[in-house]
Amino acid sequence: MQARPLRLGINVDHIATIRNARGGRHPDPVRAAQLAIAAGADGITAHLREDRRHIRDDDVARLMAEIDKPLNLEMAATEEMLKIALATKPHAACIVPEKRTERTTEGGLDAAGQHDHLAPFVARLNEAGIRVSLFIAAEPAQFEAAARLRAPVIEIHTGAWCDALLGGHRGQADAEWRRICDGAQMASDLGLEVHAGHGLDYASAETIAALPQIVELNIGHFLVGEAVFNGFGTVIRTMRTAMDRGRLRASS
Ligand code: PXP
Repeated sequence: MQARPLRLGINVDHIATIRNARGGRHPDPVRAAQLAIAAGADGITAHLREDRRHIRDDDVARLMAEIDKPLNLEMAATEEMLKIALATKPHAACIVPEKRTERTTEGGLDAAGQHDHLAPFVARLNEAGIRVSLFIAAEPAQFEAAARLRAPVIEIHTGAWCDALLGGHRGQADAEWRRICDGAQMASDLGLEVHAGHGLDYASAETIAALPQIVELNIGHFLVGEAVFNGFGTVIRTMRTAMDRGRLRASS
């Protein structure tokens, strides 16, 4: 069976991180998003954090107005973010856990433990026609909770797997990989659309592209870092090629 196409969502948060280091307008995450789309991105992802440490409200408004591919807005489940999402109406909203003290989104959302808190957020985004995804660890209880919450999409947090790979912790990487493979199958069996992201580089993206249940990868930090050496357009095209190579293994 031919695997479904694998979309590439480019996260432009860290273009904004660099801009904010000097407080000016350069480099512009909207310009980076346009360049990413020209280089083959299927969509753009941006995380509006409570502390606005990278993406700001104005960036979200400009991304909506100035890019011609879907915007996936990452947001915490707070009234403030819900209000912004409902007013902005991005194509998609990915609900992520958020702590002020973390450097990045460190773990998945506890969709099982926070069911009652999350239910009205998922419902109101669904009603507004915004495609909701929940950023969760590859754990059966989380997939079941996502299905109960009627979220159409889940994004598997790949951070622990990528960290183990980069750290050379072979046993742990294998265990995380098994969890991702089993999780992608279980989520798909529950009728959820499966995405993945966090910490992916060329090699891990190529590997995970071989899982036929996964239809979208969201990637940011590695590509922004690599762009320093090779240019943003070039690294996105290289990523696209790596994903396509991995995807060929999904259909064989
Ligand atoms: N997906 C989600 C839900 C995220 O929160 C992030 C990080 O903001 C990413 C994907 C991208 O992760 P990275 O920047 O490590 O590629």
